[in-house]
Amino acid sequence: MEKIRAAITGVGAYLPTYVLNNEELSQMVDTTDEWIMSRIGIKERRILKGDGLGSSHMGYQAVLDLLDKTGTSADEIEVVICSTVTPDMQFPSTANLIAHKAECTNAYAFDVSAACSGFLFGLNVACKLIESGAHKKVILVGADKMSSIVNYEDRATCPIFGDAAAAVLLEPSKDENGVIDASLHSDGGGIVHLHMKGGGSAYPSTHETVDRKWHYIHQEGQPVFKAAVSHMADVSVEIMRRNNLTSDDVKYLVPHQANMRIIDAVARRMGISADKCMINIHKYGNTTAATIPLCLCDYEDKLKKGDNIILASFGGGYTWGAIHVKWAYDGDKRRKSIL
Ligand code: UT7
Repeated sequence: MEKIRAAITGVGAYLPTYVLNNEELSQMVDTTDEWIMSRIGIKERRILKGDGLGSSHMGYQAVLDLLDKTGTSADEIEVVICSTVTPDMQFPSTANLIAHKAECTNAYAFDVSAACSGFLFGLNVACKLIESGAHKKVILVGADKMSSIVNYEDRATCPIFGDAAAAVLLEPSKDENGVIDASLHSDGGGIVHLHMKGGGSAYPSTHETVDRKWHYIHQEGQPVFKAAVSHMADVSVEIMRRNNLTSDDVKYLVPHQANMRIIDAVARRMGISADKCMINIHKYGNTTAATIPLCLCDYEDKLKKGDNIILASFGGGYTWGAIHVKWAYDGDKRRKSIL
């Protein structure tokens, strides 16, 4: 029997309208636009405002955009997976809420939790569901409302993060293009430098956990920075070698958007020039599970069938990985359907 390969056949996104720029942030904490631009590379980020609105609010609208762009009806979707570390609530899963709001009534749904590598870990799972022959239309959403766990009194973390959601459709490939190879890794020892301690079963929310600020991200920037550069670069180089790709063969590196200096260092190790890096960190900051699909949306019109792209991430856990994709279609789906 011929091997089934999974392909990304469409992308969609949702961005909250509120823009929190560095000038406004400088009035909230002791920071400057100059420091944030030179140390991180972020100019502004989006913030989801509104009572009771969580990641599913952004995720379902990314799904609606995806369905519209690909001309797919909601009831054709068989599985909805959501990668997130900011679920609406402990249960039901955010994917469940997204599927319900987007009227994917025939789909079963579940979440994947791998922090900033959530999209890559979810992509690997989604591909296996297609490759096994079990399913023909799977949606993977990366959605994070990071503003819900950021301490806006901590100048070392609050400039970094933003809110967004983006989604991809996975279907069996019609040719040799699709998701080719993945290398994913975890190291639970990373908890020391990057975690959110409170609100789970180990330390359920109490007055004390809130007073201790355990409901916010705890990040020690420098060790995380070093681990991000070395692990992302190593795994990306490994995936290039394994698939006999030279830097000339790679059309785009699609890196997790955590810090412009991390992206530059990883690209240099891979021998990839700056013009072949998908970058939107200046506009949206680090949107955790949404960064990579958001880049795919922003650069969709530049992609051509057969392009080799390398998706690479590093995040809390620690978790990291790289995935080689041969892009499956030409240009922007919506623009094509309008023409
Ligand atoms: O996506 C999940 C994975 N996360 C990451 O990949 C993040 C990795 N880490 C980083 O991106 C960087 O470490 C940060 C952006 C978090 C911090 O940048 P850094 O260059 O490592 O700064 P630092 O923590 O070493 O701090 C340097 C100085 C300190 O002042 P002193 O002690 O030298 O006087 C900080 O207090 O910069 C100060 N500082 C700031 N100054 C102005 C820290 N944050 C700010 C700020 N504005 N926002």
